[in-house]
Amino acid sequence: MNEDFYIDPDIHQSYTLPASVYTQQQYFDVFKKELFLPSWQWLGGKEWSDSLYTQMPHSFLPGCVDEPLLIVRNQNQLSCLSNVCTHRAKILVESPSAKPFISCGYHGRCFSPDGRFRSMPEFEAAQDFPSSKDDLKNYPLSSWNDFYFTALQPKYDLNTILAPIHQHLSSFPYDSLRPEPNLSKTYHVRANWLAYCDNYLEGFHIPYVHPTLNKAITYEDYEVRVFDHCNVQIARCKPGQKPVPLQKGDPDFGQNIYAYYWFVYPNFMINFYHWGISVNWVLPKTTDETEIRFLTYKRNDIPDSDFADTALDLTEIEDEAVVESVQKGLMSLTYHRGRFSPTREQGVHAFHRFIYTEVFADSENIAP
Ligand code: FES
Ligand SMILES: [Fe+2]
Repeated sequence: MNEDFYIDPDIHQSYTLPASVYTQQQYFDVFKKELFLPSWQWLGGKEWSDSLYTQMPHSFLPGCVDEPLLIVRNQNQLSCLSNVCTHRAKILVESPSAKPFISCGYHGRCFSPDGRFRSMPEFEAAQDFPSSKDDLKNYPLSSWNDFYFTALQPKYDLNTILAPIHQHLSSFPYDSLRPEPNLSKTYHVRANWLAYCDNYLEGFHIPYVHPTLNKAITYEDYEVRVFDHCNVQIARCKPGQKPVPLQKGDPDFGQNIYAYYWFVYPNFMINFYHWGISVNWVLPKTTDETEIRFLTYKRNDIPDSDFADTALDLTEIEDEAVVESVQKGLMSLTYHRGRFSPTREQGVHAFHRFIYTEVFADSENIAP
């Protein structure tokens, strides 16, 4: 066992992941293979099912894994196919389309909406053709409360991963959520994706970094709960703040919860507020560049005045400044690993432990 990468399950003794995993290309590549290829990635919410298009190009983790995908809507059923032509690999659908069949603009190969090969000119004399190799690959697509996810080589079941969220918020009014493209934003941070996630995973910094947010929540009873594939931070309201709607049977029913900040490993954040849901989808680009897509889903059964998006934007800008500063520190000759606060950094510790068990417990993933 390489001690430098070991994350002790006991937070009181554990060190953080070493700085090299935030800065070196070899670890960026290891994470791509060991964490992201087996992961479920966010596709979106009702914007897909509401769309007028039948064929929508997509990319699995654009800029990182970058696998070309095609979301197809066939009689209100969504499916996820490869967007690569089985003839000579042209991307089939370059922009959203409402065509009934999938056709390639290079030499005319045509596929059914389920991905099966349909026709191709000038191939009458080809032998053993067509075969199943000429069909488009079909990837799993799962929906969860009208949110969609896809996976290339899934290692775990999506519903198992998300079960703790369902258990906490089974009565959340998901049906009332509407995508708000005008309130959604993309941010670019000059830092490694892990540094961005680490920062998200603790409220320890709130009194120091987020004075406005600090006025809305009570820091003393900020709570972290840890699960196998995700963890949640729970912030409670100060007087005058509107709480997340909960019902009898929900574990926190009767409490005024300001927000649930759920982090689903390795890169998906879903935050529940009184006014709806904010998704932060973290896209690793390079060792020191990360894109974060903020997607807003507002409840349509509450007044617009209840929505507090300006505070989200301010919090994000404050977070980015510290995360970029951390990335510079991680490059320093003096910093190697840190320790965890046992009372405030349980979420970061659980995430590092997850990365250790998924990636570094196999010493082949550690550079000699
Ligand atoms: S690459 Fe698609 S038909 Fe040739
Ligand atoms: Fe923050």
